[in-house]
Amino acid sequence: MQITNAEFYKSVYKYEDCPRLQQPEVAFSGRSNVGKSSLINRLTRQKKLARTSNTPGRTQCLNYFNVDDKFYLVDLPGYGFANVPQKVKDDWAELIDTYLNYRENLIGVVQIIDSRHKPTKDDKMMVEWLQASGLSYLIAATKVDKISNNKKAKQKKLIYKELNLIEEDNFTFFSAQTGEGSREVYEYLDFLLQL
Ligand code: GTP
Ligand code: MG
Repeated sequence: MQITNAEFYKSVYKYEDCPRLQQPEVAFSGRSNVGKSSLINRLTRQKKLARTSNTPGRTQCLNYFNVDDKFYLVDLPGYGFANVPQKVKDDWAELIDTYLNYRENLIGVVQIIDSRHKPTKDDKMMVEWLQASGLSYLIAATKVDKISNNKKAKQKKLIYKELNLIEEDNFTFFSAQTGEGSREVYEYLDFLLQL
């Protein structure tokens, strides 16, 4: 996978507004503030493509990015953020849920979790849903620049156990800061696009 050009295409606030496209889509999912937008920026080598922020809950819609007219990256709104009104949470949940269930262009999901912590209840729900859905997914445990190699090994075990992962599952550590794990994510995208 070589990404030459990636550009913002569209923000979608309602499922009905998803664009009619020929190209496949890969979605990037994870709890609020986990580092979804940073991961997308790292992959596309554009620091400001997807908006990143210290304030959780910044991305409140589906953001479509056109990659070389070959496929679209879709940055999903982060889940699990406490400090927003219930109505807003419900709207996000419905948007994500409808998108994941019905979007025909969707060929795979990069599910992002925080490598430093035990997966949250919402992470578990997401992964359970992915496992039941039959959709292809890659678990990317990000912010790995913040933990030692020793802790990495421990966290991998914990993550596999908590998320009921098996040997065959696609898993990688990732860091938007150092680029660790980029190759694995590119390889996963290659795999998806060949299907
Ligand atoms: P929402 O859009 O609000 O759901 O957040 P997001 O998941 O898109 O997270 P975002 O990429 O905005 O990153 C959140 C914060 O984590 C920012 O301050 C980033 O700089 C930081 N961050 C993201 N990835 C990494 C990483 O790999 N390493 C380190 N050290 N910090 C990271
Ligand atoms: Mg974001």
